[in-house]
Amino acid sequence: MTAVVPSESEVQEGGSRYDRLIQPARVHGTLYTDPSIFAEELRKIWHKTWVFVGHESEVPQVNDYVRKQLADQDVVMTRDKEGEVHLLINRCAHRGLQVCDDKAGNSSSFRCPYHGWTYRNTGELLGYPYNKGYGGKKQLPLGMGKVARVASYQGFVFGSLAAEGQSLEDHLGAAKGEIDRLVGLSPEGKVSLDAGWLRHKTRSNWKFLAENETDGYHPQFVHGSIFGVTGSPIGELYSDNSTAVTRNLGDGHSENDLRPEFRGFAEPMRWFGTTPDRVPNYVAAMKEAHGEDADRLMIEGAPHVMIFPNLFIAEIQVFNIQPVAVGECVQYATAVQFDGGHELNMRMVSQSIGSVGPAGMLLADDTEMYERNQRGVAMADPEWLDVRRGLHRESVDEDGFTIGTATDETGMRGFWNHYKSLMEAED
Ligand code: FES
Ligand SMILES: [Fe+2]
Repeated sequence: MTAVVPSESEVQEGGSRYDRLIQPARVHGTLYTDPSIFAEELRKIWHKTWVFVGHESEVPQVNDYVRKQLADQDVVMTRDKEGEVHLLINRCAHRGLQVCDDKAGNSSSFRCPYHGWTYRNTGELLGYPYNKGYGGKKQLPLGMGKVARVASYQGFVFGSLAAEGQSLEDHLGAAKGEIDRLVGLSPEGKVSLDAGWLRHKTRSNWKFLAENETDGYHPQFVHGSIFGVTGSPIGELYSDNSTAVTRNLGDGHSENDLRPEFRGFAEPMRWFGTTPDRVPNYVAAMKEAHGEDADRLMIEGAPHVMIFPNLFIAEIQVFNIQPVAVGECVQYATAVQFDGGHELNMRMVSQSIGSVGPAGMLLADDTEMYERNQRGVAMADPEWLDVRRGLHRESVDEDGFTIGTATDETGMRGFWNHYKSLMEAED
C-alpha cells in the first residue's frame, strides 16, 4: 500500500499542496512515489530550469557529436563548423523518427533513415528526396527540434527547454565559485570530461540521489568498508569532531566544505590521499601556473558540490543524474581530467574505476541505499522522512550562507526550499 497524498482540504489554509508536503523538518514520502508529482517535476523543473547535459571537451573538433539525455529528451550535442555547441532534439521533423542512432561521431549532417531527410548539425533541414512532392527544393520551414537555450560555464554545458528564464550564470549563483575551484586545480585552468562516462541505472527516485550527495551523515556507515580497505582518512572528515561544514549555497545548490579540515593539516595533495613527491610533475606544473597560490590550492583540494538539479562534482568525479520515471533514474559518472595534469589524470581514472566503475564499491554502496530508500517509501507508515538534523544549530557564515556541521542536513533543506519554490510556480 502506498501512503495517501494529503488532500487539498488537508493543505494548510492559504498554503499550496507543496506547503503541506514540504515542511521545515520533514518531507512527505509521496514526493518520491507519486507519478503525478513526477510528471509535474518534468514540466516545472526538468523542462524549465538549466539542466547539466555534458562538457564541451566531449565534442572537441568541428562536427563532433555525442548523444546525451536531458530528462526524457534524447538530445544530440553537436559542434558546428563555426565551433558553436548545439543541443538538438533527436527527432525528425517529418514523421518523428529518432534521427541519430550512433552514440558519438563526427559529421556535419544527419540523415533520417526513414525517408532520407537530411539535417545540418545545427538542426536546419538541408534536403529531402523527391522534392516535387513538396513543391520543390527548400520549401519546407521545418528542422530538428532544439533545446531552447544552451549555455556553458567553464566548459560545462547546460540546456534549458524553456525559451525564457534566468541566465545560466544567475542559476548557478554561488555554485560558480565551486566550479572555479575545480578548474583552479588544473595547471592550465581547464578541466575535460572526456575519459568516458559510466552509466548506472538506479531503481530510485532522482531526488534521493540529489539529497544524498551532500549528506555528510552517511559516509562513515555506508562507505565504512571502502574506507577500511583503502585506508582512506575521508570518513573522519564526516564526524561529530570534524571542522568541515555543510553549506546551503542557495538556489537548491549545496556543498560539503572540507577545506577547514585540510587547512588544519596544511599538507598539499592530502585531499587526494597522496603526497607531492608521488606526483612531482603535477606539483611543479601547479607551482609554475599559480606561483605562491599553488600550495593553498593543493591543500584545499577539489569541491564536493551538488548543483541543482543534476550536476554533482565529487572532488575527482562528475555525476550527471537524469530521471527516467518516478522510481527510476540514471546516473552517469566520469573521472575529472585536469588539462595539463597528466600524472594526476591517470590516477583519477583508476580511482574512479575502483569507486564508481562496474565493480566499484562507493557507488554500489550508495545505490543499495537509494534502492532500499525507494522500496521503503512505498510503505505507508510513517508517512514522513525526517530532515531536521542540525536545524537547531545552523548558523550563517560571513558570506550570508546557512551552514551546519559536517553531518547536518542543511544541504537537503536547501534543496527542498528551492524545489518547493519551483513546484509552486505557475506552469
Ligand atoms: S520520419 Fe524522418 S524522413 Fe520521414
Ligand atoms: Fe555515499
